[in-house]
Amino acid sequence: MCGILLSIAEAQEGGQAPCGCLHELFPKLQAATAARGPDAQHTLCVEIGNTELQFCASELRLRGDSFVQQPHIDAEGNILCWNGEVFEGLEVLPHENDGVKLSNALSACRDPQDVIGVFGEIEGPYAFLYYHKASHRLYFARDPLGRRSLLIHYPDEARPYFLLSSVSVGLHPGYSLEEISTECVYSLDLDSLTSPGQKITDVRKCITSLQRSVHGVTLPFAQPAPVNSSLPTDPPKVTSLDCIPPHLTSAVDDLIAELDRSVMLRVRNIPRSNNTLPGQARVAVFFSGGIDSTMLAFLADRHVDPSEPIDLLNVAFENPRKIAVKVEGNIGGLPKREKKQKLRDPLDYSSVKVSYDVPDRLTGLQEVEELRRLCPNRTWNFLEINVPFEESQNARATVEALMFPSRTVMDLSLAIALYFAARGIGQVRSHPGTEAQPYTSPARVLLNGLGSDELLGGYGRHRTAFKAAGWQAVIDELQLEIDRIPTRNLGRDDRVISSWGKETRHPFLSLSVVNFLARLPVHLKMDPRLEAGLGEKLLLRLAARKLGLVEASARKKRAMQFGSHSARMAPGEGDRKGDLLLDRQRISDE
Ligand SMILES: *[C@@H]1O[C@H](CO)[C@@H](O)[C@H](O)[C@H]1NC(C)=O
Repeated sequence: MCGILLSIAEAQEGGQAPCGCLHELFPKLQAATAARGPDAQHTLCVEIGNTELQFCASELRLRGDSFVQQPHIDAEGNILCWNGEVFEGLEVLPHENDGVKLSNALSACRDPQDVIGVFGEIEGPYAFLYYHKASHRLYFARDPLGRRSLLIHYPDEARPYFLLSSVSVGLHPGYSLEEISTECVYSLDLDSLTSPGQKITDVRKCITSLQRSVHGVTLPFAQPAPVNSSLPTDPPKVTSLDCIPPHLTSAVDDLIAELDRSVMLRVRNIPRSNNTLPGQARVAVFFSGGIDSTMLAFLADRHVDPSEPIDLLNVAFENPRKIAVKVEGNIGGLPKREKKQKLRDPLDYSSVKVSYDVPDRLTGLQEVEELRRLCPNRTWNFLEINVPFEESQNARATVEALMFPSRTVMDLSLAIALYFAARGIGQVRSHPGTEAQPYTSPARVLLNGLGSDELLGGYGRHRTAFKAAGWQAVIDELQLEIDRIPTRNLGRDDRVISSWGKETRHPFLSLSVVNFLARLPVHLKMDPRLEAGLGEKLLLRLAARKLGLVEASARKKRAMQFGSHSARMAPGEGDRKGDLLLDRQRISDE
């Protein structure tokens, strides 16, 4: 993972700092950017008229033989700040760096259509800034699924500067940040912005939104394919995962092949960082023991050097609210007055034995045994990451700042789980029941099973839709899910996870996998007529069973914040709505 950052402001007379607030804010953003790319950082200034552009980039080296300093500058003076990975569409050899290759490919661009063309040909997560010197244009965008964060601040009277940044530093008076949309590639005309009489506060007038298409030519990775709209007519029902009916055989094989390739592209050729030694893990998986993360772990085993362990990150929170429920029943169900009383004199938690046997820990422990049986030559480090209540409370402000501008109760529940999981500090046991040894995961690539529920119909609402209005409603729901992927949580997760100088990769959210699954007719992916644990994500269950993952193939869905007990930890938080804003909640706490 890398970090990218840009400010545009009017230069002041006599080389003064552009603006008081930016002067104070920019170094903070630089420091946060550096955390994402611990291997190299650099800042570069460009002046156009009396306008100053500061490009800053940091590099986490996950490609090539030696570290490459960003921003990339080509012979013509074009500047690329790249936070991404090219997995397909541009050949990057093991010793090469994708940012350098991309910078070369962009050098040939003459006009906006050429730039659109280059990015429409590549598959991978990204956010970028590209300054094209000859035309004085600045291009910026995120990939079509929004897998990398890019935040924007538009200038206003009080804060007359323009910012683009991978990261935030939390709530700050110096900006009002929002995530940029993934629908377009944006082009800022710097000639027009710096022309006499033009005010920086009118920057929006100088920005063009470019559609991701080039004169009717289809670009392979410009946007997700639409969901197949063909309606099934009473397809045969699957009765058991053990036998794959003829109409599903090729879809099962194709899914395994697509996922296998996506995982392979995401785990191969990871260079060792300075402090990882041969025989240490380079790949870890966010691992709940559910079907998605287990499939990824199983497939990763095929492509990761057999002498290296794979780390399975399994996070569990000490949740006083849950423990209280265990000890004295659910106070949510009590009459108001009694509930108030209970909240006023809370349990003495020191008397309660803290245990981390949360749902995800239990399924994770079962599942790692299945992996050990199927892949006996691999060292599977099942990393028990236990987070005491006090520690999670202490980290809360940090996590809130990292995830900003995301700021709901639900955002925090998920972000804090990812934060501790990605840190990778915990304990491992070589066999069940043996004594735990402290372990810190050195892996900088973290596989994440996100996306499978959206693509394969893993949510309860798919069944609800079917009951209400049949297959058409399920198709509509699947389309909605794909449309929502870019605006959901990927930017937030990226900001949180990469603060550890690590990066998350989503094999299900490769545009190749997304397009393959979108094009499959609905009844091959799921069957809302069947019971839970079978009907949702039916195709993936059949695939997992075919690979021998018998236990994983039958597990039901559980959201991470509930599986790890990171959701709503403080006593009395139990009935808070997930979409409540944290600040409002803070006020109502007082
Ligand atoms: C949708 O599914 C049908 C039935 O399998 C298939 O014939 C058709 O080509 C698919 N459509 C698209 C756009 O892939």
